[in-house]
Amino acid sequence: MADDHPARRILITGASSGIGAALAQAYAAPNRHLVLLGRNATRLDAVASIARERGAHADIHLVDVADTSALGELVTSIDEAHPLDTVVANAGIGGRASLAGPSGEPPEASLAIFATNVMGAIATVAPLIPRFVARRKGRIGLTGSIAGLLPLPASPSYSASKAAIHAYARALRPLLRPAGVTLTLLVPGFVDTPMSQSLDRRPFLWTPERAARRMMSAIDGGKATAVFPWALALGARAGNLLPASVLARLTSARQGG
Ligand SMILES: NC(=O)c1ccc[n+]([C@@H]2O[C@H](COP(=O)([O-])OP(=O)(O)OC[C@H]3O[C@@H](n4cnc5c(N)ncnc54)[C@H](OP(=O)(O)O)[C@@H]3O)[C@@H](O)[C@H]2O)c1
Repeated sequence: MADDHPARRILITGASSGIGAALAQAYAAPNRHLVLLGRNATRLDAVASIARERGAHADIHLVDVADTSALGELVTSIDEAHPLDTVVANAGIGGRASLAGPSGEPPEASLAIFATNVMGAIATVAPLIPRFVARRKGRIGLTGSIAGLLPLPASPSYSASKAAIHAYARALRPLLRPAGVTLTLLVPGFVDTPMSQSLDRRPFLWTPERAARRMMSAIDGGKATAVFPWALALGARAGNLLPASVLARLTSARQGG
């Protein structure tokens, strides 16, 4: 296929399921080269096949994002071979796997959540930032959560991990902006994926396709944030204005997502 424009290269972590898989399909089009990361080869292959049917080029790479040195080497070598335009750090642990019991959370569960949701996300984007800055272009997306806006007693480590991503994204964005590199913080509420399907209540649920379209449009438009759905975001912001005792009563029965 003769084309004067090099394909736009988009790397997505957590591309084997849920929001990441839907994001891959949203981006899949001719003259797009998707670089899809995950651990489950069968599901990742299936996502890549659909993307190819839509005219995109798609590669898959198996990696555990908690293995930060392997991940750093992988993303650097991918960018070295063919420069990336966009990276979305989306892989995460949540849902029932992140729910605390009456005695809190087992230490290994908390550490695994931070290893994936925080260290894994930073290890995805940090090695690419100097490369994007040197090229004076690039788009970065980081997936947070509305649970990062309003910490939930049902999932302390999940909420804290997403709040960490929110702070990281908000601090980095102005730093990168003068170099022409954009950073978009993606803040979903409940999205109908295997992660949230393990929860009992999912108010204002969005489909993964709708969430992916919203996320892609925000990343491509260089927006600072995409917070959705607005009603849940409003509720989270209002919750932060309540006295701590009232908030604790309201949220202690709620689950994380
Ligand atoms: N669904 C929601 O309601 C919701 C709401 C707010 C925020 N989010 C956030 O959205 C992101 C995507 O979640 P989702 O709902 O799409 O969940 P999902 O369907 O469970 O998918 C999670 C993805 O993350 C990958 N992943 C998890 N741990 C990994 C690890 N250690 N190394 C590499 N990949 C790993 C999984 O890959 P493998 O399966 O291949 O291991 C999978 O592709 C997460 O950051 C989540 O916190 C989701």
